[in-house]
Amino acid sequence: MSESKKHIVTAALPYANGRLHLGHIAGAYLPSDIYVRYKRLKKENIIFVCGSDEHGVAITISAIKEKTTPKAIVDKYHEKNKIAFQKMGISFDIYSRTSNQIHHKTSQEFFLELNKKGILVEKTESQLYCENDKMFLSDRFVEGTCPKCKSEGARGDQCENCGSWLNPTELISPKCKLCSNKPIIKSTKHFYFPLGRFQNELEKYVSSKKNWKPNVKNYCNGWFKEKLGDRAVTRDLEWGIKVPLNNADGKVLYVWFEAVLGYISATKEFGEKIGDPNLWKNYWQDPSTTYTAFIGKDNIVFHAIVFPAMLMAHGNYLLPQNIPANEFLNLEGGKFSKSRNNAIYLEDVVEKYSVDALRYTLASILPETKDSDFYWKDFQARTNNELADIYGNFINRTTTFIQKNFNSKIPAVGALSSEDKNFLKELNDLPQKVGDLFEKFKFRDANNQIMDFVRIANKYFNDSMPWKTLNSHPEKCKTTLNNCINAVQMLAVVFFPILPDSSKKIWKMIGNNSDIENINWNEINNLKVDINQTLVEIQIPFSKIEDNVIQEELNKLENQNNVDIQIKEMVPIKPIISFEDFQKVDLRVATILSCENIPKSKKLVKLEVELGNLKKQIIAGIAQEVEPSSLVGKQVVIVANLQVATLMGLESQGMVLTTAGTNDTFALVSLNKNVPSGINIK
Ligand code: 2FM
Ligand code: ZN
Repeated sequence: MSESKKHIVTAALPYANGRLHLGHIAGAYLPSDIYVRYKRLKKENIIFVCGSDEHGVAITISAIKEKTTPKAIVDKYHEKNKIAFQKMGISFDIYSRTSNQIHHKTSQEFFLELNKKGILVEKTESQLYCENDKMFLSDRFVEGTCPKCKSEGARGDQCENCGSWLNPTELISPKCKLCSNKPIIKSTKHFYFPLGRFQNELEKYVSSKKNWKPNVKNYCNGWFKEKLGDRAVTRDLEWGIKVPLNNADGKVLYVWFEAVLGYISATKEFGEKIGDPNLWKNYWQDPSTTYTAFIGKDNIVFHAIVFPAMLMAHGNYLLPQNIPANEFLNLEGGKFSKSRNNAIYLEDVVEKYSVDALRYTLASILPETKDSDFYWKDFQARTNNELADIYGNFINRTTTFIQKNFNSKIPAVGALSSEDKNFLKELNDLPQKVGDLFEKFKFRDANNQIMDFVRIANKYFNDSMPWKTLNSHPEKCKTTLNNCINAVQMLAVVFFPILPDSSKKIWKMIGNNSDIENINWNEINNLKVDINQTLVEIQIPFSKIEDNVIQEELNKLENQNNVDIQIKEMVPIKPIISFEDFQKVDLRVATILSCENIPKSKKLVKLEVELGNLKKQIIAGIAQEVEPSSLVGKQVVIVANLQVATLMGLESQGMVLTTAGTNDTFALVSLNKNVPSGINIK
């Protein structure tokens, strides 16, 4: 192995509090796996590490929700996720976990070293505290309105809507996530990492990385503009890695401070496993190693700014050479979201479908430059019309032709026509073209490039008409088939990083005794199928997916979306009223004639509605939830006999019924079909 091409590749450590879904795979794991598999074929020296991120508030909240302990949560999901990754063919050298002793020790030592160097700053600052739950509310324990974009439901550490990184005390109207009470302000002492001290060095570092993706660079530059400040790296929590100092009872390291160090601990663990405890130094502390960190875009700040600053502060560590962050994968036009159950979980699909078909589809739609969408029908189309009908067909027609007409023996190549030469040129250029794209993290283009070659190969087969030349020009026929079987073999190799299972099968089907993993990518152009080889039993590794299977998936998704949205906190039911009391409320169906924003009001809209031959003006607080013009023509339910009120100087002569929720939980009370407006509701 060449010492100069040494790599450490990391993929973001997923939180062990939930199942992995296809969004995760498209974000960081499939791209990193393709890259690593390719580099292994190039015979470069590479270690691929990942593991479970097992601390932090997210895990504690899951434990409270599931009425169990954080330990039980992480044990369950670590195992589940580890297995799901294996089944998806993600070929980590190690899948570690941050609850391991080795990681606790590594993180504590790292913290102590920064403290010893006088880098960490100890400060007593005001924080949010819930008197009901008797705890400080950091990160996800608190929610409120984002001070930057004003959207509700922003967390104490980050606003998911605008991506801002927040301090809990900056939230407008904060609420305890556990009991919904308003927290008080109380002071507590913490260790802070002075990111500002590293701003210059970080800016130089980022600007020196000419081949980083623009999304990552732009993101960092946005941060630099805002000026980096001190960030607390400890928390008042029970679950986590204890701050290794006296007088730090009840304090743990901030999850993001230690999680990124998990990459180093995982490498240590890998070395120990293979009997080389010092191996990690040979990677993390050797400047000839290239470190590549695969992540999703929500992790950019921690990998491109915080982690490098920590490593700079410590000294004697490699910084990421590249951080090929992907954008998000959406599902059927909506966001993949665990909380809304709008997700396709790995464990539900890895056994039901061909893993290679899943990998192929994801590789074709990777959100490399912008968000992209997974559609079940697209998965079916790519599986049936591309994998089966184009790639499968080429393998099938080549192998069955050889089986039928040459008794499964590989025919020898003869004199080459100009068509043969053109085809062989395309074939020989393929590994270089594909390899260049893999090197640039353009996995989607690489995938397309290979498929385009399969199309060329099918055309070559058609145009060469071996079924005719079999009798008229047998030598030409043999040449065609020799070229085609060499193309099949080449395809198995160049597709291997994306489609490992089928490539292994195809490789063996051609009659190779060796393992495809042992092939050297640098020498594949010389690798011709031996004419003494005999095809073994032909089995085309791609089968088609029927319409009803896809329809079932779509139905399932719809049901998940409808049934599983859970109410966060149920407002208590009001005291019983009599039927007479109820009858006092006059509920009517009304048709919306117009709806417009009210100048200077963020929340209110002015509606004109029609009830039979009556018109009413209603002022409603729904401007943040719906686009006013989208309501025109809709039928809604209103309270028709509510006392007139004046809002922003305008008269409101009724009330439109809606749910009390916001965003996803906001809905107008509507009817399942059109009825005459003005009709009363009983
Ligand atoms: O976003 C996440 O799922 C985080 N657990 C990623 C952590 S990556 C690294 F820090 F370990
Ligand atoms: Zn509380």
